[in-house]
Amino acid sequence: MHPSLVFLLAFVALTVQAAPAGKSCVVDSFAASKNVADCATITIKSFTVPAGQTLALEKLKDGTVVNFAGDLVFGYKEWEGPLFRVSGASDSAKVTVNGNGHVLDGQGPLYWDGKGGNGGKTKPHPMVKLNAAGTVSQLVIKNTPAHAVSVGAKGALVIDRVTIDDSLGATKGGHNTDCFDVSSVNGLTIQNSICKNQDDCLALNDGKNVKFLNNQCIGGHGISIGSIKAGKHVDNVLIQGNTIKDNTIALRIKSYNGAKDASVSNIHYNDNHATGITKFGMMVVEDYTNSGETGKVDKAIPITNVNFEGKPSTIVMNGGQAYKVLCGKNTCTGSWNWSLLKISGKSKAGTSNINNIKW
Ligand SMILES: *[C@@H]1O[C@H](CO)[C@@H](O)[C@H](O)[C@H]1NC(C)=O
Repeated sequence: MHPSLVFLLAFVALTVQAAPAGKSCVVDSFAASKNVADCATITIKSFTVPAGQTLALEKLKDGTVVNFAGDLVFGYKEWEGPLFRVSGASDSAKVTVNGNGHVLDGQGPLYWDGKGGNGGKTKPHPMVKLNAAGTVSQLVIKNTPAHAVSVGAKGALVIDRVTIDDSLGATKGGHNTDCFDVSSVNGLTIQNSICKNQDDCLALNDGKNVKFLNNQCIGGHGISIGSIKAGKHVDNVLIQGNTIKDNTIALRIKSYNGAKDASVSNIHYNDNHATGITKFGMMVVEDYTNSGETGKVDKAIPITNVNFEGKPSTIVMNGGQAYKVLCGKNTCTGSWNWSLLKISGKSKAGTSNINNIKW
């Protein structure tokens, strides 16, 4: 045998051996979802998750593959949630979740009362909690009672081609239906996904090395960094290639006045395109409090290097105000190159209380 062939065969043998050993498991009922930690592959078939229960795939080993082969419906009950949770055995254990276009139905219309998380019915949220590194792709998450997906994975995670469809909520009382709420991540990419909702498309509250690429945000409150609270840091974020349609706000950064030990740094916007924006095109405000924006920025956090780069980002307004920047004294520093931000359409002119933005 040719030596290189021996080498190749040895390599193939090693590769096969390296594939995760373990069971193939089928989850076709809530009971079958218990103790899946030692499964190498998990196939999820169609069933209804009992009301008031979290369907939890917990402590999944590195290399575990979860394949959806059917749709899930979550039974209706007023409770805290979450409805579905995936978590790894360790921060770095990589899990692959293939939704294969199957639907998780949260039965939102039974909960929606126009109040979201601010009263009325108790709504289980988030609907989906992702605490595993790896990949989550091609899931359809529909009719979420309130917040849709919350990401808290500490290892690298890619969310790809996920659809969150709360479009019914626009006329049936959907509220606080955030698509992606992100906290304490390092190395998260959300790409090629669709968000139809009535609140933030992305709310990035804490984390570094985050990419939000080629997503569609329809009907909600735009792509947001924050609201940044005490102890929270957001660093190195790329927001690129997104389409934002008929949202109240296109792009924003917001922080709590008085938030101690908090910061936002190195935010890169490239080639984003918004139309039909009704309140604010580009917004950076540091006056957030639990009772909303107050205009007070006496104890603002540092926000450093907020730049539009690469290809132009465009925002077409349909009312409201083109931009608003409200920073504390000397807190918005570094490079603020907005020469590639193009705002047009019908709106009031922008306002800013800082003078270091380069247009
Ligand atoms: C701002 O960005 C534009 C486009 O990338 C670039 O041409 C320009 O030199 C930058 N200005 C400064 C002051 O960095």
